[in-house]
Amino acid sequence: MTQATDQAIPNNQPARATLSRKAQDVFSSLWASLFYSGKVSGQVVMLCSAVRQEGTSTTACALALAGSMPSGADRVALVDFNLRTPLIGRILKLDRGPGVCEIITESRDPASVAQRVSSGLDVYVAGQGRGRSLDVLKSQNVGEFFRMLAEGYDYIIVDTAAVNHYPDAQILTGTIPDVVLVSRAEKTPREAVAQAKKRLEAGGGVIAGLVMNLRTYPIPRFVYKRV
Ligand SMILES: Nc1ncnc2c1ncn2[C@@H]1O[C@H](COP(=O)(O)OP(=O)(O)OP(=O)(O)O)[C@@H](O)[C@H]1O
Ligand SMILES: [Mg+2]
Repeated sequence: MTQATDQAIPNNQPARATLSRKAQDVFSSLWASLFYSGKVSGQVVMLCSAVRQEGTSTTACALALAGSMPSGADRVALVDFNLRTPLIGRILKLDRGPGVCEIITESRDPASVAQRVSSGLDVYVAGQGRGRSLDVLKSQNVGEFFRMLAEGYDYIIVDTAAVNHYPDAQILTGTIPDVVLVSRAEKTPREAVAQAKKRLEAGGGVIAGLVMNLRTYPIPRFVYKRV
């Protein structure tokens, strides 16, 4: 399954806990493709890119916002497991922590760390994990954390660091096998995406889909639809 996004989703503006109508449509459709058509085997999906700055965190936020609306229908958790370059908290203008790192290394109660964005969406920011990513990932508490989340939420979206640069996402596939790869359309080399796929699959991951982020349409989109 490949999904294209051409949505400009500014992340440098005052708290954006909502999406534009167009973005809501695009990401609701991605949500449905993942969770309602059997692409994802469970209720947890990891978002990852081959190389840095492809739009993984932006896509993870938009997907979680779209999936948690209309508020209250489903309980969604968005987890920032990119302990290298965490951004979810900044995008959604949340407190910097505590977060995932403190839950796993200090056995903090997840409920005390969750930040509520809407009645349908809780966010777990990365916390103070810089430089400790592998220690956190090696902990037995990672599995326990996701088991606890699975009891409290209907769907869980996990943001991770670029897999061709860091081993984190590959390690995490042992706990979360379903992966959506995010790539910048017209920019990410095909070989880099192939390499990412190989790494994730070597860890036990299954590629549930590919998001072509920031796709541009040099000719009008309706023409594409006819060819
Ligand atoms: N669809 C989009 N619309 C507008 N801006 C976008 C979009 N996708 C990404 N960006 C911008 O591109 C930059 C990188 O995006 P983002 O931080 O989401 O990428 P990332 O893959 O998570 O990066 P990292 O490798 O650091 O984790 C950000 O400035 C973000 O605002
Ligand atoms: Mg990111």
